[in-house]
Amino acid sequence: MRTRRLGKTDLELTVIGFGSWAIGGGGWRHAWGPQDDSESIKAIKNALDLGINWIDTAAIYGLGHSEEIVGKAIKDFPKKPIIATKCGLVWDEMKNISNRLKRESIKAEVEASLRRLEIDTIDLYQIHWPIPDEDIEEGWETMAQLVKEGKVRYIGVSNFNISQMKRAQSIYPVASLQPPYSMLKRDVEENTLPYCSQNSIGVVVYSPMQKGLLTGKMTRERISRFPTDDHRRNDLEFNEPLVSYNLEFVNQLIPIAKKHNKTLAQLAIAWVLRRPEVTSAIVGARRPDQIAETALAGDWTLPHEDIDTIEDLLYQRKQKAMNK
Ligand SMILES: NC(=O)c1ccc[n+]([C@@H]2O[C@H](COP(=O)([O-])OP(=O)(O)OC[C@H]3O[C@@H](n4cnc5c(N)ncnc54)[C@H](OP(=O)(O)O)[C@@H]3O)[C@@H](O)[C@H]2O)c1
Repeated sequence: MRTRRLGKTDLELTVIGFGSWAIGGGGWRHAWGPQDDSESIKAIKNALDLGINWIDTAAIYGLGHSEEIVGKAIKDFPKKPIIATKCGLVWDEMKNISNRLKRESIKAEVEASLRRLEIDTIDLYQIHWPIPDEDIEEGWETMAQLVKEGKVRYIGVSNFNISQMKRAQSIYPVASLQPPYSMLKRDVEENTLPYCSQNSIGVVVYSPMQKGLLTGKMTRERISRFPTDDHRRNDLEFNEPLVSYNLEFVNQLIPIAKKHNKTLAQLAIAWVLRRPEVTSAIVGARRPDQIAETALAGDWTLPHEDIDTIEDLLYQRKQKAMNK
């Protein structure tokens, strides 16, 4: 699979990274419903066998559980993948979640992540959300200290805007940004991606298939059967009025994927990778067959004519949504 260098770091990432949110399992506020751990481990192992060389997780995914599963899955692998995880979201014994960027909190978080992942060093440690905004500097100084202590190799940010990245940059280099990016979420295109490119900040984009919505396998019926603890039930893109526009749009993509003998999931991933500023797409999977399908997008370059057709379809979708 193709690789791209992450900003100024020496990390050569495959253009697809394994996303570990859903495998955190059920029973917490941002869950994706119940998850079979043995399937999760098989999915990760399959990803690595297919040549994917990095995994994105976070302490908060499954309240520590995702990191534990990643740790178990990579334990016996002769060549360890690059591991990226995140801090800044903590929970209590009642599973209440809060945003914390205080020094003592991050110092405790990194130790817990290293223990759950069963590794000595985290390759890329990211601040999950820039919240509270007034604690960004304290959080980022602490992250820089963790690099000096050898606990983490590089530090990055997630969900930061340009001015927040500038504040962090003035303290210590920002290795990477992790923003949302898909056909349905294009906010970063105009300013953020060019800013990252100009400042040699790597970009690892999340939810490229819009949490499964762009795979063509999501139907109204499936959505109505989501388990009660699948957070997508409350996601605006999975609810009216947007879900109607989205499902119609996905149908319109079918001929484009078919023409190339590709699937819609592969089309969605190849589309985000068309932007040179994007180092890698973080692709979530809960089963080995899912990642077997999506990994194939890593070597597909989407032709210009199809990019233009998708642009037209997205324009029409926007017009319909605005005129409603
Ligand atoms: N930094 C942040 O704030 C942030 C936020 C979101 C995500 N992320 C990271 O980015 C990763 C990817 O984003 P994401 O998981 O939200 O969304 P995504 O990659 O767009 O979608 C993943 C979901 O799509 C479904 N899927 C995967 N492969 C499929 C296939 N071949 N066919 C049909 N359905 C398939 C699976 O859910 P079902 O099988 O249940 O449909 C899977 O959990 C996360 O795992 C996480 O590591 C970070």
